[in-house]
Amino acid sequence: MKIEDAILGRRSVREYTDEAVDEQTMRRLIGAAILAPNAVNQQPCTFTVVRERSRLDRISRQAKAHMLATMAASAHSEHFRTLLGDPGYDIFHGAPALVVISATAPGPWIVEDCALVAENLMLAAFAEGLGTCWIGFAQGFLNTLEGKAALGAPAAWAPVAPIIVGRPKAWPAATARKTPEILWVD
Ligand SMILES: Cc1cc2nc3c(=O)[nH]c(=O)nc-3n(C[C@H](O)[C@H](O)[C@H](O)COP(=O)(O)O)c2cc1C
Repeated sequence: MKIEDAILGRRSVREYTDEAVDEQTMRRLIGAAILAPNAVNQQPCTFTVVRERSRLDRISRQAKAHMLATMAASAHSEHFRTLLGDPGYDIFHGAPALVVISATAPGPWIVEDCALVAENLMLAAFAEGLGTCWIGFAQGFLNTLEGKAALGAPAAWAPVAPIIVGRPKAWPAATARKTPEILWVD
């Protein structure tokens, strides 16, 4: 697949089939992900792959409770409160796999490094016919000691990018983009 087709076609997918993502596929996606540029070539990102439904469900419940307890008021907070307070709402949208991209330790560029790795992974997944979605709702909880324990990850790690992966039930329509604001300075 041409890179522009992947960039144009990728969508955040929120409906998945039950088809599992096998280890070889996940390894290929991670192999593409780690080729992203990274600061001072420190390559700080690690990958925690969760595929067991009971663990995904437990983390979803804990992350919702954590967000409800810690969420600051914002333009979206009423909508978020309704969603997160719904016991039937799965923050992982029923995806069969979650890959959490973490840094091994805090550092000045870990967010940039892990976000670039995440975009590579999402584009590589699209090229294989798989859907993905970054789950920001999980981030607060996963960064607590309880969250890292729920993942089975070392306490020193800093989770940055929780990405769900799976076979889409259907591909959603593209989300419109604002016209880019460009400041041309000669
Ligand atoms: C940092 C970040 C956090 C996000 N958190 C969530 C989330 O918690 N749940 C969700 O369904 N989508 C989440 N998304 C997906 C965005 O809603 C989505 O990327 C945006 O609406 C644009 O749609 P597209 O990805 O299909 O182009 C997140 C995306 C990013 C980059």
